[in-house]
Amino acid sequence: MKKLYLIMTAITVALMSCQPAGTKGQTDLTGNNIIPRPRSVVSTGGSFVLTGRSDIFVMPGSPEEVAVTGSFLAGKLNPSTGLGLEVITDGSKPGKGDILLAIGEAGSGLGDEGYELVITEKVLTLTAEKPAGLFRGIQTIRQLLPPGIEADTIQPGPWAIPTGTIRDWPEYGHRGEMLDVSRHFFGPEDVKRFIDHLALYKMNVLHLHLSDDQGWRIEIKSWPNLTAHGGKTEVGGGEGGYFTQEEYSDIVRYAGERYITIIPEIDMPSHTNAALSSYAELNIGGKATEPYTGTDVGFSTLDTRSETTYKFIDDVVREIAALTPGQYFHIGGDESHSTKIDDYIYFVNRVQDIVLSHGKSVTGWDEIANATLRPGAVVQYWAKAGNAVKGVNQGAKVLMSPCKYAYTDMKYDSTTVLGLSWAAYIEVDDAYNWDPATLVPEISKENIVGVQAPLWAETIETFKDAEYLIFPRLPGYAEIGWTPSDMRSWDEYRVRLAAHGKRMEMLGIGFYRSPLVEWAQPGR
Ligand code: ACM
Repeated sequence: MKKLYLIMTAITVALMSCQPAGTKGQTDLTGNNIIPRPRSVVSTGGSFVLTGRSDIFVMPGSPEEVAVTGSFLAGKLNPSTGLGLEVITDGSKPGKGDILLAIGEAGSGLGDEGYELVITEKVLTLTAEKPAGLFRGIQTIRQLLPPGIEADTIQPGPWAIPTGTIRDWPEYGHRGEMLDVSRHFFGPEDVKRFIDHLALYKMNVLHLHLSDDQGWRIEIKSWPNLTAHGGKTEVGGGEGGYFTQEEYSDIVRYAGERYITIIPEIDMPSHTNAALSSYAELNIGGKATEPYTGTDVGFSTLDTRSETTYKFIDDVVREIAALTPGQYFHIGGDESHSTKIDDYIYFVNRVQDIVLSHGKSVTGWDEIANATLRPGAVVQYWAKAGNAVKGVNQGAKVLMSPCKYAYTDMKYDSTTVLGLSWAAYIEVDDAYNWDPATLVPEISKENIVGVQAPLWAETIETFKDAEYLIFPRLPGYAEIGWTPSDMRSWDEYRVRLAAHGKRMEMLGIGFYRSPLVEWAQPGR
């Protein structure tokens, strides 16, 4: 097999004429374009090169996940290099041009997701304390190679990386995006592609907004009409869709292989028309509503004083929690404009207890801080800083998703065709130029779990549309979550981002070519 790769590569490379851009300057590791920017980079001025003899060695005695991560790396490198790297687990020693993956102590402080990359002319050694750290480090290896590495067809090399050492770990433990699959449905393949994008930029959470007025998107076996009826609508009247439990579990597994946690959200007590139109008994007055395919908010509410509602929620949370290994269950709680405040507080308190009874911690939009937060609750700040502060005053942590900076469905500027603008226009510099730890004076870094950028889907019908809004803002959100704020500046970042244009092209992402960034011309 390896021989076949080598012959194919030799032929392909012989057929290709000039070297691509991006192969210059391969001896200065500090001149890298890695996003998120790594903490510490020391260059030793040489060059490590992948060749037809390169393989990926796993340190003997490593946990099984390390070989899986090695296979992931091989799967990234082989289609574009044609070098046929194999994962070697037999304890033999790496030689020139090989990659070594090791779990071990590489000095202190790497934590769960940190890694150390020591690159010599002979071997590239990636060490982490935990498998997740190796996986994050592999994204650095990808980004140190020319953008052609991201292609799924053979590209010309050379596949060189400058020598030196990188030691790197994240500032915040939660770095993610939210995808609204309710307003428009995106199927498992789209979600997996999104997960791949998160992985490349070292994000570790995908929050799935699984229910809203316009559609219910996850099979609940004890309440089948939620999807049989409530899953068949979406904004604008399209056919909708939903994940079977098997499909959801497959997404969870796919994310897990990339050390990404899924946070499922069932939004309630408002944003519930899809459920209210599926089951009459969830409504105040006991009459099912009509399906809804518009974009208004705040008009729907579950009957917060009915035991049937809590039986329903208990079933839904139990079924989803059983499929979800992550710690958090998101209860929504936003924009409950047609629920009386007393009813809202009563509801949020009861639902929190249901979530805890199924072994999960609660997270919800900032309004939930008006209730009595249970231990371990995380308040997702999106609109009202005062709510987030109420959460902190109750001992809760805050997840930063300020709509004026982090809402990925906001237009870039007034000419952007897709997206909304009720919170702000968010150009690529606005998306980057904020600091979670200083945004709200009363909320300091130790109260913050991290950063999450939501993508609401009222205006996006295809995943291509989604990618246009996500990119190039996502790498900036990833850097805000990973890189210490005193190492971040827009003027320096925009140069690195420009270098990612070609990488995004290679990945087939139709991104917004912000005029604030000096992109290379397409195809060059
Ligand atoms: C929200 O944007 N309604 C959380």
